[in-house]
Formats: sequence, C-alpha cells, structure tokens
Amino acid sequence: MRERSGDGATPPARLGGGRCLTPVEARRVYDDFGARQDGQGWYEDPPVEVLLRHAAFEEARCVVEVGSGTGRFARGLLDGRLPPEARYRGFDNSPTMVELARERLESFGERARVDLTDGSMELPMEDGSCDRFVANYLADLLDREAIVALVAEAGRVLAPGGLLGLVSLTFGRGLASRALSFLWGQLHRRRPEAVGGCRPIELAPFLASPEWRGVRRETVVALGLASEVLVAERCRIAEP
Ligand SMILES: C[S@@+](CC[C@H](N)C(=O)[O-])C[C@H]1O[C@@H](n2cnc3c(N)ncnc32)[C@H](O)[C@@H]1O
Repeated sequence: MRERSGDGATPPARLGGGRCLTPVEARRVYDDFGARQDGQGWYEDPPVEVLLRHAAFEEARCVVEVGSGTGRFARGLLDGRLPPEARYRGFDNSPTMVELARERLESFGERARVDLTDGSMELPMEDGSCDRFVANYLADLLDREAIVALVAEAGRVLAPGGLLGLVSLTFGRGLASRALSFLWGQLHRRRPEAVGGCRPIELAPFLASPEWRGVRRETVVALGLASEVLVAERCRIAEP
C-alpha cells in the first residue's frame, strides 16, 4: 500500500465554531435529519454547480464521494453527466443516509455503490484507484485532524492527474455574509447539532502541499451564506 500522504501536520487554517461532533454524535444527528438534508439546496446548489463546472466529471471513470448523504449529488452525476461506463462509490457514516442513497441510486445497478463507514477516513479503496474524489459539506463538520486525514486519504486513493473537489461552509465576504457566518459560528459553539455539526472553515490551507495543484478556488454566497469551492489536481510526487 502506498504511504498515506498526510504527515499528521495540522495546517494553520481558520476554523470557526466550537467543539466538533464526534462521529458517533454526527451519526445520530444525520440519522435523525435523513431526507431533510435535501432541503439544504438553497445554499448548497450554487456552490456545487461551480464544482460541477470545474471538475470535468464528463471525463471521469471512477468517482468517490465521502459524506454522500442522500445520494442527491451522485444521482445528478450518474443521470447523464458521467460517461456511461463511469462508476460511483459513496461512503457515509449514517445508516439512514446510506439507505436513502442506495434507494435513490438503485436503478444504476453496479455502477453505483454506497457503503457505511465508522466515521474514520480510511476507505476500503485501492491506492490510485479513482480519478475524482468529492466531499461536499463534510469537511466543515470535521475537526482539524480529521480534515487532514480526509485530504490524505484523497491523495492516496486518487491516481495522479485525478481531481479532488471540496465544498464547505466558509467565512462570509461582504457585510451580510460575514454577519451570517459569525452568527452561524456562534450557534455552532452553543449547539453544534442544531447546525448539523457544520461551521464556517477555511479549507485551502489543507491543500498547501506539492501534492496538490490548485485548479479552482471560489467563494460562492447564496442567500447570504458563504461556501468555499476547491478543485485541486493530485500531482505525481517523485519517489525519494
Ligand atoms: C452536511 S451533510 C452533507 C451531505 C451531502 N454531501 C450533501 O451535500 O447534501 C454531511 C454528511 O456527511 C455524513 N458524515 C458525517 N460525518 C461523517 C464521517 N466522519 N464520515 C463519513 N460521513 C460522515 C453525514 O452522515 C451526512 O450524510
């Protein structure tokens, strides 16, 4: 197995809010939230559109998604955006979410598979076995070490030239969105489960290594709520 690319160093990224939910707590929150996750499209859809525009899914062969939720993103990919032979593999640590996604993707047969995890970032995938790795609104509910582990796992599982796509809540830019992200962070401090464990974060510093070449970094504000979209290419690292 290839070495995991993260060395455990924690980048000096700004992370809002307070204590993060543990995987067990997050599982409880999302088991309870279930299909209501699809109602978050009012702020999630515009940034996810940016990801779709810049991650060349039309050329993908194998897409991995962590925090796959109800399978809404996967359905959109498989419904015509991916080449017909491309496969999708989703992972989530909520049994309810996994069940919803499996139902939604059933008609795609063997092209789509969704598995339950224990919340760790160690995925049962071969090194370099996929060419797209996506996590939408997952990093913003993880603590610093787990974000490092997520990015390291993306680096392990992606083949060189593959693309990592991350979307998460971030800090606002204008007055209104800055105020909203501040209030969101405050709410996260008091009751993280009330905001699904998510809080504004800064993701780009987690990709500041020669392993990643930035393809796109954009902040998208939808109805006052800011999200960061990152697309980065997995570079080939010379063996020592
Ligand atoms: C905010 S939702 C986003 C779902 C989906 N990506 C979307 O954008 O609609 C976060 C998802 O990540 C899952 N999740 C939370 N912690 C996780 C972990 N440690 N590993 C895998 N999935 C996790 C939750 O169960 C939930 O489905």
